Amino acid sequence: MAIRSGFSSKFGFVAAAAGSAVGLGNIWKFPFEVGENGGAAFVLLYLGFCFLLCFPVMVTEIAIGRKTQLNPVGAYKALGYKNWSILGLLGIVSGVLILSFYNVVAGWAFGYFIEMVSGNFGIGAQFGVFIQDVFKVGAYGFVFMAATAFIVSKGVSGGIERAAKILMPTLIIIIIALVLYSFTLPNAMKGVEFYLFPDFSKLSFPVVYSALGQAFFSLSLGMGALITYGSYVGKDDNIISSAVLITIADVGIAFIAGLMMFPLVFSQGLETDGGPGLIFVTLPGVFETLGPTLGIVIGSLFFLLLSFAALTSTVSLLEVPVAYMVDEHEVRRNHAVWLVAGFIFLIGIPSLLSNGYSEFFTSFITYFGTEEATNFMTLVEHLANDSFLPLGGCLIAFFAAYVWKKHNLVDEVSKGNPNFSNSLIGKYIDFAISYLCPFILGALFILTVLDRFFGINPIA
Ligand code: TRP
Repeated sequence: MAIRSGFSSKFGFVAAAAGSAVGLGNIWKFPFEVGENGGAAFVLLYLGFCFLLCFPVMVTEIAIGRKTQLNPVGAYKALGYKNWSILGLLGIVSGVLILSFYNVVAGWAFGYFIEMVSGNFGIGAQFGVFIQDVFKVGAYGFVFMAATAFIVSKGVSGGIERAAKILMPTLIIIIIALVLYSFTLPNAMKGVEFYLFPDFSKLSFPVVYSALGQAFFSLSLGMGALITYGSYVGKDDNIISSAVLITIADVGIAFIAGLMMFPLVFSQGLETDGGPGLIFVTLPGVFETLGPTLGIVIGSLFFLLLSFAALTSTVSLLEVPVAYMVDEHEVRRNHAVWLVAGFIFLIGIPSLLSNGYSEFFTSFITYFGTEEATNFMTLVEHLANDSFLPLGGCLIAFFAAYVWKKHNLVDEVSKGNPNFSNSLIGKYIDFAISYLCPFILGALFILTVLDRFFGINPIA
């Protein structure tokens, strides 16, 4: 078994787990998902899913991690349920898939930092060209994966823990400043309205499962990342208060990122459904309006900090398969890191090519019942984020409630929180883990797969 280098303090675990949660998912993906899925109604669903369904799953993952001190596969074995380790494997596959495309987008963010440093504000309009310059963005992605691997090979605590404490608050301050600035622009209130006043006529089943997938993705849940990180939580730390902090930090940052985005979109006269390009198209122009010096400073700082936020997420994504190789296959940590990182970089190449460069990967697949082709990167994201993560969450809850048994979960969470089972949160978690999470998530998973990939919608 691998020796864990514990975090230096309780705050260290929260900072690292929040670092995992807060990333491109909040600042890049959340706003464009809101834009594509009708605005405020999506936001409401997302909030509901985060607090009602994801939070209990988060508590369960952390508890299993602290109990077993292992990677997801080893964790189920250590609890005595060898067959369930297949659920750990599903998580590892999800993590590998997610990192493969996440790293591509992280490469874009890092590339934008370089563009901003050289004062190229016109890059916003050239986004479509930029992402097709595959050798350049591929090189940025390569650097990014190497940086991730380097950090993981040194162990998770230490450097990033310290850096996260300074850099994340700085990023939040910049985003809040941008929110305030965006409010002063013409048409800003139209954006606020789109973002905050729900138009329920825009609700449809795809909006529901996109919000669910986004909730899991944003909170880094459903694949066992927090099982692995949970092994770093001290025995008398309070899991509930840590999970509350992580959830609020993550949801809060996504929320203000959305608040920043829509006034900008409306003031620039853009469409809300700009897709993955949304922040990359809107922001450079805004930085330009700050004047050459301030624009370069704020613009490059923003994309640098965004890259850093992405790095604390990619580290957590790489850590899981690496911990698995080290714990279960006795591969040396250093070898495991570079092997897995290299492999994931390679399987990310089709995603890199699928944004216009290669026709084959750009129009990769046409799902049953649709006419438009889906590109490779979006396919991976649909599989991993919107299907595997909620399935993982469903099964983790089912496992905890009916296989491992609830009293074991309650015992573990009660360490460091003796009143847990009598508290309101404790009662809710008990209920959610027994009924809401396994059954609602299970049903949503099946309906999602039927609707998205097969065009079958039994409830419409
Ligand atoms: N939550 C991160 C983000 O929002 C991405 C991420 C990191 C993730 N680790 C994960 C997603 C594990 C799912 C599972 O950017």
